[in-house]
Amino acid sequence: MSESKAFYDTVANRHRLFYRDWPAFVKQEGSWLDDLLRPRGARSVLDCTCGIGTQALALALLGYEVSASDLSDENLALAQRGADEYGVAVAWHRGDVRALDQVSLAGPFDAVLSLGNSLSHLLTETDVQTALRQMVDQTQPGGLVLVGQRDWEAIAAERPRFQFRHEHLDTPAPGQRTVLWDLWSYDDPLVTFEVFFSQGGPEGWETEVFPLRYRMWRRREVMEMMEEAGLSGVREVPCDWEVRLAGNRLR
Ligand SMILES: C[S@@+](CC[C@H](N)C(=O)[O-])C[C@H]1O[C@@H](n2cnc3c(N)ncnc32)[C@H](O)[C@@H]1O
Repeated sequence: MSESKAFYDTVANRHRLFYRDWPAFVKQEGSWLDDLLRPRGARSVLDCTCGIGTQALALALLGYEVSASDLSDENLALAQRGADEYGVAVAWHRGDVRALDQVSLAGPFDAVLSLGNSLSHLLTETDVQTALRQMVDQTQPGGLVLVGQRDWEAIAAERPRFQFRHEHLDTPAPGQRTVLWDLWSYDDPLVTFEVFFSQGGPEGWETEVFPLRYRMWRRREVMEMMEEAGLSGVREVPCDWEVRLAGNRLR
């Protein structure tokens, strides 16, 4: 886990570059989450792997009461900067999703989220089970727990080796480009992403590479662990950009 903290602390100032258009994605996430949460009457939300605040800021913009936590101080600093830019308030906390009881949170919450493939950083069943139990403990009886991850079934079947992420023009300076691309190596159920940041222009290019390991948790495994953690009605909620699994805390 310190491996992913080191990664996110190092790349935080470039984290928005992981998204083709981060502000547009904030809007898209807000609309998707609002469709799910508003009909349930949910008002208070904890995003317990908030990163730079993609979903937390989206929800705060829509008027939800948002608390958010993450392991990476650098991501949290960037998330606060996002809150200042958007003019919204979020209660940010530094904390491990496996130890939310160590964080002074204002729960329980109507909904608790971990989106953007965050739990895939946890490589053992014990760690994911612990995280899910901690998430359930922060949820109101009847409230919603939502987990988002990559479509690991499809990835493990196709085993793509190369991923082109994005090319950002005039970044970090006019006339320069930043290109993000990955090489993926498999040791099923583990996969290592080597994330390359290439930055340059007419005068030449520089590349930095950051390795990141994930566990390719299959839907069935996560759904079973969600049930074991005390969630009922565990189901997949349709989403075009990642696999989203939801369940309700037993009353
Ligand atoms: C890919 S980012 C996703 C962030 C955000 N949810 C989004 O979709 O933009 C994954 C985040 O999980 C966080 N993370 C990884 N392991 C964690 C842990 N054990 N506890 C809390 N956060 C963790 C990382 O610091 C990182 O910010």
